[in-house]
Amino acid sequence: MQDFEPQQEFDNLDQESKYLVHKAREATAHSYAPYSKFHVGAALILQDGTVVMGANQENASYPLCMCAERVALYAMASLYPGKRIMKMAIVAHKKNHKELVPAASCGACRQVMAEFEDRQKKPFEVVMMVEEDKWVKCASAAALLPFVFTKDNLESPAKK
Ligand code: THU
Repeated sequence: MQDFEPQQEFDNLDQESKYLVHKAREATAHSYAPYSKFHVGAALILQDGTVVMGANQENASYPLCMCAERVALYAMASLYPGKRIMKMAIVAHKKNHKELVPAASCGACRQVMAEFEDRQKKPFEVVMMVEEDKWVKCASAAALLPFVFTKDNLESPAKK
């Protein structure tokens, strides 16, 4: 699979991606977004088929808001340490709007996704809607963040 599959409509996605998008949508039920009214859900599927979901959690102190992707990833790491993530789906909708709206993961979440890949030493796919009913499937989180900052950057040159 190339880094990014050509954009496709939801109906043309593979069965697993559709299922995971459905779970991400389910996760938005637990989004707490009274400030932005932008409800985001993320779902991860692990190698053994376990699904872990997360939704964005906002705070009156705005910078403390946490994106759905990171809620899901940190929950996964705490509940199922050492398990491998195969795929992640992300969706969003606005208050009182049942239909999904485009939601490309923010840079901070891409950075965290990249480190999760690094930890498991295996890529995972990322599925998200980038335009109205235009879904992108990425072969890996790393593809979403070129020139990523990693633990290698923290090593002193002498150690290399
Ligand atoms: N949000 C996410 O949950 N994921 C992203 O990748 C981008 C933004 C949330 C954070 C905040 O609660 C709301 O969307 C508006 O930015």
